[in-house]
Amino acid sequence: MSISENNLLVVDEDASFIDEAKQLFEGRLPTARSISEALTAIEGGALRMVLLGPSFANESAIDTVRVLRNEDPSLLLIAVADQVTSALLRSAMRAGVSEVIEAPLTEEKVEDAITQFANDVLKRRTAAAPPALHEPREEGQLIVVMSAKGGSGKTVVATNLALLLTRFPGKKVAMVDADLQFGDVCLVLQLEPRFTLVNAAHEMHHLDAQLLESLLTEHPSGLKVMAAPLEPAFADDISTESLMNVVALLKENHDYVVVDTASMLDELLLSLLERADVILQVVDMDLPSVKNAKLALETLRLLKFPTSKVKLVLNRSNAKARLDDKEIEGALKMSIAAAIPSDGAVAASMNEGRPVVESAPKSRVAKGFESVAELIVGPVPEPSSAKGFLRRK
Ligand SMILES: Nc1ncnc2c1ncn2[C@@H]1O[C@H](COP(=O)(O)OP(=O)(O)O)[C@@H](O)[C@H]1O
Ligand SMILES: [Mg+2]
Repeated sequence: MSISENNLLVVDEDASFIDEAKQLFEGRLPTARSISEALTAIEGGALRMVLLGPSFANESAIDTVRVLRNEDPSLLLIAVADQVTSALLRSAMRAGVSEVIEAPLTEEKVEDAITQFANDVLKRRTAAAPPALHEPREEGQLIVVMSAKGGSGKTVVATNLALLLTRFPGKKVAMVDADLQFGDVCLVLQLEPRFTLVNAAHEMHHLDAQLLESLLTEHPSGLKVMAAPLEPAFADDISTESLMNVVALLKENHDYVVVDTASMLDELLLSLLERADVILQVVDMDLPSVKNAKLALETLRLLKFPTSKVKLVLNRSNAKARLDDKEIEGALKMSIAAAIPSDGAVAASMNEGRPVVESAPKSRVAKGFESVAELIVGPVPEPSSAKGFLRRK
């Protein structure tokens, strides 16, 4: 990509920056004085790059740029700032700006930003191994972990299950953190994602299995994680459609796709449940948890969901509770498929970033998680070495 007469749009409220850019590129560059003008200018699709002047170089103004990215996800957005701070960089990245360059503007800096962008795109495209062309693989199984009550153990179940699935030789496992506002899968697995679902949503229109692969964060076990947005406000950027697209693409390249969810029975969750091969309904041994599970299951029945896909997972099964197993099964009209005891090691493991199936694989609680995995694949192999969590590094 190079700058030619008509593919670079210069946007700024301030005429002096526009003049400066015009002089620099000695051309009749298209210009706009506001984001709405810029939006009109990019509608034709001929523009490939947008150079945003210093009037956008603050955290609130840069956010308005997002609409350009949404209009044309393949646009290269470059911002010019008098001072590049890390806060500004973060806001810029979130708004879909690829590069921020420091004033004064030079042709070289713009060229460098373009090269950097092109390299990044190229790297992302080649990062993923090409899929085997000869043997078309079967689609992976989609496992959705749900519970209509927060704190009932969805994330604990989803992360431990996903790690157990990586023990099956030759099986590829991916995980999606679809708790869009408060997703903590990466925290629990001690991962620092470079990309999140926000990036996947931005790339929506040219996302394929390979590009998606490069947006995943790899855990030492081999598990690949599609991270939730880093801040609750970005949840809005992710449409149900784009999340379904991510899930469908992950199924192409993985044997199991485990999805952790939020505690809300909304359109997003229903869409996931519709596509799920297995639904793990986690229920805690307390009254509110059972009540919410009952309401959720009744809703699914009303919507004529095949409840045969739903497996009831009782969490903290040994906790002192007002209800016993039989009462829970009666209330939910479903038998308990797997039970996980309560164990202080769970909370400790979460803080440590090493789920119990790795930190204490022989514990009763780890065996509880194995019984969940068994519902899906049968008996779980032993971890391949004492340092199982390092084995694929
Ligand atoms: N079986 C268990 N034993 C002990 N603590 C548990 C168990 N399951 C969950 N917890 C604790 O409960 C809290 C909530 O679990 P989490 O998986 O984050 O719930 P959710 O994702 O449903 O909101 C965590 O702090 C976790 O450590
Ligand atoms: Mg959770």
